[in-house]
Amino acid sequence: MKLNIAVLPGDGIGEEIIAQALDVVKAVCKKFDHELTYQKALVGACAIDATGNPYPDETHELCLNSDAVLFGAIGDPKYDHNPLAKVRPEQGLLAMRKKLGLYANIRPVTTFPSLIHKSPLKNELIEGADLMCIRELTGGIYFGRPQGRSEDGNTAYDTCVYTREEIERIVRLAYDYAQKRRNKVTIVDKANVLATSRLWREVSREIEKEFPNVETEYMFVDNVAMQLVQWPKRFDVVVTENMFGDILTDEASVITGSLGMLPSASIGIHTSVFEPIHGSYPQAAGKDIANPLATVLSAALMFEYAFDLQEEGALIRKAVNASMETGVVTEDIATEKAYKTSEVGKWIVEYISK
Ligand code: IPM
Ligand code: MN
Repeated sequence: MKLNIAVLPGDGIGEEIIAQALDVVKAVCKKFDHELTYQKALVGACAIDATGNPYPDETHELCLNSDAVLFGAIGDPKYDHNPLAKVRPEQGLLAMRKKLGLYANIRPVTTFPSLIHKSPLKNELIEGADLMCIRELTGGIYFGRPQGRSEDGNTAYDTCVYTREEIERIVRLAYDYAQKRRNKVTIVDKANVLATSRLWREVSREIEKEFPNVETEYMFVDNVAMQLVQWPKRFDVVVTENMFGDILTDEASVITGSLGMLPSASIGIHTSVFEPIHGSYPQAAGKDIANPLATVLSAALMFEYAFDLQEEGALIRKAVNASMETGVVTEDIATEKAYKTSEVGKWIVEYISK
C-alpha cells in the first residue's frame, strides 16, 4: 500500500518524539512492504519564527494533500509570559484543527500491566480500565467569538458556542464507537449551569433513542472528574465538549501512569491528524529525555484509523508493551535505569524489524 504522510514536529520536544515515531513508521512500512513517502512542515512557534504564521498555508496545503498527518507538540514559553503577543503558537494547532475540520478527538485510555505501579491510584481500581474519551475539537469556548478584552483592559471574555449540527455529529460518533466496544455512552456536560450544555443534553436525548441497545448516561463534568479517578472501570465511551475533554483527558492519563503515554486521533472532514495528548514540554527540549510512546502509539492509531492496517498498528502496540516489560523506558515511567528518548525509539524499531 502507498502511504503519503505529512510530518509536523512542532515545538519543544516535538522534533525528538516525532523522530522516534517516524523511525517506527518506516520500520513498519519496510516490514509489511508498504511504500512510504512523507514531507515535513512547520507549525507552532517555529512557524511563527520562520513565517509569522503559526499554521502557514504551505503546511495546510501539505496536510490536505496527504493521507494522514503525524503531529508532535506545540507551544513555547516565550509566548506565555507575553500577554500582548498577537500570535501564539497554540493558534497554529487550533487553526489546523479548524481548517481540516477535525471535529472529533479520540483519546483511548488504557492501563499497561508493566506500568500499573506508576499510577498514584490504587492498582485494583485501575487494573483493566479501558475507556475512550471522545472530545469535540472544533467548537465551544476554544473557538467562540467574541473573545477579548474591554478597552481599559480590565475585563476579559470568552464565548462558548455550540450548534445542533456540531453536537449531533460528535454524539453519533460516540454511539458508533460504543457499539464496537461495551455499548455504553457517558455524555458529559454542565447542564445545571450552561446553556450550551442544555442543548447538548437535548440533542443527545433525541439521538439516544436511535440506539436502544446502548446504555446512555448523563453526568455533570465535575462528577465525572471525581469518578474518573475513583472508579474508572465504570466508563466505556465518554463524549464531551472541547474544553471539558481537554481537562478530563489530562486527568485520565493518571490512570495510564504518565501523560507521556496517551495517544490521540483527530478525525473529521479532511485529513486526520495523529498526535500525543501532551504538550511541548519545553524544559525537556533537546535533552533526549521525553517519553516518545504517546507519539509512537499515535502512529499505531494512524495505521489503524487512516489506513485500516490493523496488523501494523497491533505490532507497534506489541513493541511498545515489550519495551515497557523489558524496562527500556524514559525517566517518567522508569523504576530502575532510565533510557533516552532515542534509545527507546531504537529499541522499538529493532523489535519491529526482527
Ligand atoms: C491538547 C492541548 C491543546 C488543547 C493546546 C496546546 C492548545 O492541550 O491537545 O490537549 O488545549 O487542545
Ligand atoms: Mn490538553
